[in-house]
Amino acid sequence: MRALEFNDVSFTYKGSGSKALEGVSFAVNKGEFITLLGRNGSGKSTICLMSNGLIPHALPGALEGAVRIFGQEVRERSVAEFSKSVGIVFQEPESQLFCMSVEEEVAFGPENLAVPREEIGDRVEWALELVGMKGFNDRSPFSLSGGEKQRVAIAAALSMRPEMLVLDEPAYALDPVGRFELYSVLKELKQKHGMTVVLAERDPEEAVAFSDRLLLLEDGKIAGVGATRNVLRDPQKLSSLGIAPPQLSELAALLNSRLPGESFSFLSVEEAERTLSEDFFAQGRARRA
Ligand SMILES: Nc1ncnc2c1ncn2[C@@H]1O[C@H](COP(=O)(O)OP(=O)(O)OP(=O)(O)O)[C@@H](O)[C@H]1O
Ligand SMILES: [Mg+2]
Repeated sequence: MRALEFNDVSFTYKGSGSKALEGVSFAVNKGEFITLLGRNGSGKSTICLMSNGLIPHALPGALEGAVRIFGQEVRERSVAEFSKSVGIVFQEPESQLFCMSVEEEVAFGPENLAVPREEIGDRVEWALELVGMKGFNDRSPFSLSGGEKQRVAIAAALSMRPEMLVLDEPAYALDPVGRFELYSVLKELKQKHGMTVVLAERDPEEAVAFSDRLLLLEDGKIAGVGATRNVLRDPQKLSSLGIAPPQLSELAALLNSRLPGESFSFLSVEEAERTLSEDFFAQGRARRA
């Protein structure tokens, strides 16, 4: 069973004259990390909201095609039911936090599921540790930085023990330090916990280092999908869709154009450093010798 499956999905928000999504088909396997990329209005949030049933249950409209979340058709279950398997984190940290303390915030979801008190305590500690917010239990969420708020929002989703996490531009409102810490958490979710993640981003710079696949959107349609490395081999395509190519992809493209026969591609600085010192610089030294 797939974690998520869109089969020829089109959607028009109620009252809108145009389709927000048109003929969208893709699937996400369990344990996969997929990043949705596209400029403003391309349909990223619409896909996120459909991935836990908020569309069409809370935001109505005309939905065609089939959306399956862990095998369940989106129209056939409530958002409350999907919330047991799908956690969602939005762009604005302020809009998601409403409790008096960090601990209450993270305990809120499992309390509503009537999880036993002791287990809730364990889940809260586990989730806060995972997002690097251990010891913040008694702090007011309103006293936190934007990045800390977003990490509490992720902890609040994780304490439900979801099978899939959906994040809609979670770094949007954060400063560079907040962004760095947030992406460190996402990387850990992928590398240590094998979490199934759907991440929406306008800018792929950080996410490419740990995304299995990229899905490119334009005007509500899929403009490309593939393994991260393959999609990044065509930085011009990204640019044409209003997506800034990662700097490392541009560097690789530049080297490939200057060095016939090479086909570099780098997903991280570490990888670039390793490849260049093994391959390129070593050859250079050999040529000079
Ligand atoms: N509540 C709504 N009612 C009507 N139309 C909407 C609504 N929300 C989004 N849309 C429209 O649906 C299309 C897709 O929007 P969506 O928010 O999914 O894009 P996005 O890629 O998330 O954009 P952004 O980068 O700005 O967040 C756009 O044309 C948008 O104007
Ligand atoms: Mg959006």
